[in-house]
Amino acid sequence: MCGIIGIVGKEAVAERLVDGLRRMEYRGYDSAGICTVHDGTLVRRRAEGKLANLANVLAKDPADGDVGIAHTRWATHGAPTAKNAHPHATDHVALVHNGIIENFRELKAELTAAGRTLESDTDSEVVAHLVSLQVEGGASPQDAVREVLPRLRGAFALAIAFRDYPDLLIGARRGSPLVVGFGDGETYLGSDALALAQLTQRIAYLEEGDWVVVTRDGAEIYDELGDLVERPIQLSGASAAAVEKGNYRHFMQKEIFEQPTVVAQTLGSYLRQSDNSVALPQFDFDISAVKRVTIVACGTSYYAGMVAKYWFEQFARVPVDIDFASEFRYREPVLEEGGLALFISQSGETADTLAALRHCKAEGQTIGVVVNVPTSSMAREADLLLPTHAGPEIGVASTKAFTCQLAVLAALAAHMAVRKGLMSRADEQEVVAHLLEAPAALNAALDHDDDIAAMAHLIAPARDVLYLGRGPDYPLAMEGALKLKEISYIHAEGYASGEMKHGPIALIDEAVPVIVLAPSGPLFEKTVSNMEEVRARGGKIVLISDAKGLEEAGEGCLATIEMPRVHPLIAPLVYAIPVQLLAYHVACVKGTDVDQPRNLAKSVTVE
Ligand code: M6R
Repeated sequence: MCGIIGIVGKEAVAERLVDGLRRMEYRGYDSAGICTVHDGTLVRRRAEGKLANLANVLAKDPADGDVGIAHTRWATHGAPTAKNAHPHATDHVALVHNGIIENFRELKAELTAAGRTLESDTDSEVVAHLVSLQVEGGASPQDAVREVLPRLRGAFALAIAFRDYPDLLIGARRGSPLVVGFGDGETYLGSDALALAQLTQRIAYLEEGDWVVVTRDGAEIYDELGDLVERPIQLSGASAAAVEKGNYRHFMQKEIFEQPTVVAQTLGSYLRQSDNSVALPQFDFDISAVKRVTIVACGTSYYAGMVAKYWFEQFARVPVDIDFASEFRYREPVLEEGGLALFISQSGETADTLAALRHCKAEGQTIGVVVNVPTSSMAREADLLLPTHAGPEIGVASTKAFTCQLAVLAALAAHMAVRKGLMSRADEQEVVAHLLEAPAALNAALDHDDDIAAMAHLIAPARDVLYLGRGPDYPLAMEGALKLKEISYIHAEGYASGEMKHGPIALIDEAVPVIVLAPSGPLFEKTVSNMEEVRARGGKIVLISDAKGLEEAGEGCLATIEMPRVHPLIAPLVYAIPVQLLAYHVACVKGTDVDQPRNLAKSVTVE
């Protein structure tokens, strides 16, 4: 996804636009640009690479003006070069875009046939030309946008500046989020409230299909049909400090260390400590009647869903289907009448997950959403909204959102079991008591940070790394592999320990470290047997277990990482810490860009 900001201001905007982009750099960081309207011209500056490059361009060649738009890009169409960086402009119009214009080829052909020259390889530039054509033909900005929006297929958030209308910007949203911020004699557009946190807390969220004319006096919002509409102004509560690293070296590191606090916060809103009971919000929905749960998510959120499948099946005895959103959408899934479809997402904007949600809604499923951004599209379309309280997650590698998702999902599975009459009061109390032990256990796990940092150099030279786990630690193995891949660029795979001998064992040699997740408990002996199979073939093992497990099986390992001894229910939360820290420290040894790894963006709002 990309980040968009626009300001219709009382004073110079360039510096504030770049500051807003800095807050959104996690959304995309392969190129950036701004365009101001000044003295009857569009003043455009763009740069390939990180935002610092744009700041350098602006230091040499400033962009004056009180009105402007800016963009930080995650490339979809066209390489991440200055030429493809936004804003895209004609003599009359400049535009920034987040999303994909699916019919851009036919629109481009039409524009080219009409004699227009497009200079970039992007899908976005066609929109600038289409709007410009209208304006050049005498249309007002409002009429131009009204004319062009219905011609666009796909997903977009747009902010458009006009050379001859220096007191306004126009924004539009369909499929990608856009908010309007209200200041004192200034008005703003932004991809999210966080982008505007330094400028204002007064935010209106545009609805699907809305477009908006923004002036210094405020905003006129129109819906898809062109009718003037009111969207409530809310206090966003987004804190500029939440997007600061504080004393940490990286956002990812800060977010890993926030986990005891944010997991406690999250558990606090789903569990009642006074009597150790599950206390979910009241829903107008009979959860005891659910016969099948369908879980849909992507990436790390998908692995949280895989862990939850064990809990739903164990506690509530309800079958669970789980799928990647990108697969689910296109495989004509069979959905049980009256079923619960559960969507898990940090951002609440992931395009595939959102599309799957809408599909399930159309099929009559009850829509549960476990989401970290409470104002996101998924949150707004939920029947059962189950927020995680992780706070803004900026590092591209998801960490605290994952453990908070697990906290919510464990509470939900227990709640369903209680409602179905499958969990006695005594069992409920025990489950809740174990969940409430999680924050302290996470703290104890974090105490091993130095040990993990000290052994990271053993993994950093590897070309391939395998992760093994059983039961709920199997999704954790895949999550560990994903973390390592995305920030250290080492190839890694997670396997179910017992599956190892059915193929992957052929990969084992001295150069492939094998990270084994094996808390002592019912599955420990089995995992250790699989570990021995690896060792017998010269494999180098890093065993992550508690003191008892390490005593029994730690000898002869390349390294061991000690975890506190915990109940199996909370082991997936606790064992998330060492896999996150290991990936983090390996990436630090390798000197990669931990918070903004290559080719990635924080959330993927395109298919
Ligand atoms: O915002 P979402 O949870 O829907 O995002 C899903 C994935 O894109 C995300 O978890 C991704 O895999 C992370 N970079 C993993 O660290």
